[in-house]
Amino acid sequence: MNVYLVGFMGSGKSEAGRCLAEKIGWAFEDTDEIVQTLEGRTIERIFAESGEERFREAERRVLGEVSARNKRVVATGGGMFLRVQRRVSMRETGVIVWLDASLESIRERLGSGDGRPLWSHQEPIAMRALYERRRAAYALADFRVDASTADPDAIATRILARVQSVLR
Ligand code: S3P
Repeated sequence: MNVYLVGFMGSGKSEAGRCLAEKIGWAFEDTDEIVQTLEGRTIERIFAESGEERFREAERRVLGEVSARNKRVVATGGGMFLRVQRRVSMRETGVIVWLDASLESIRERLGSGDGRPLWSHQEPIAMRALYERRRAAYALADFRVDASTADPDAIATRILARVQSVLR
């Protein structure tokens, strides 16, 4: 059993995930970080040099590895939960929590979005469209936790309150 955190870029999955892992004494995994380590280059460079599909393929492999482990809090990249097969893998191996942050709070956190190729240099209207489109997918998570306000520790406490009964 793992806990998977999903949600839009900048919703605080990594920070809250780290706090949650500490609270429950599980290991923490960050799929973006593992992809970058395996590829030996940043996400920005993967997108620029090899294209988004290459990144998605690396993400798929990383999820395959991580989901075979146990007692992990896993922060996933914002696009991971959008593909059906990834959703199935997560559902089969754990509980899925959507960190739902308002677009305004995300804008504040990400600023110009350095290092996030799908965010930087986007027109505000395109960002809103992407955000709205993705919410429909994130809503398929098992639990939704409000992540617009509060610090990572408080968000981790909120997550714990929702998932506690299913942790084993
Ligand atoms: C992406 C989100 C990023 C990263 C990549 C693509 C997306 O992760 O995986 O830039 O498609 O939403 P964060 O959600 O951690 O920013």
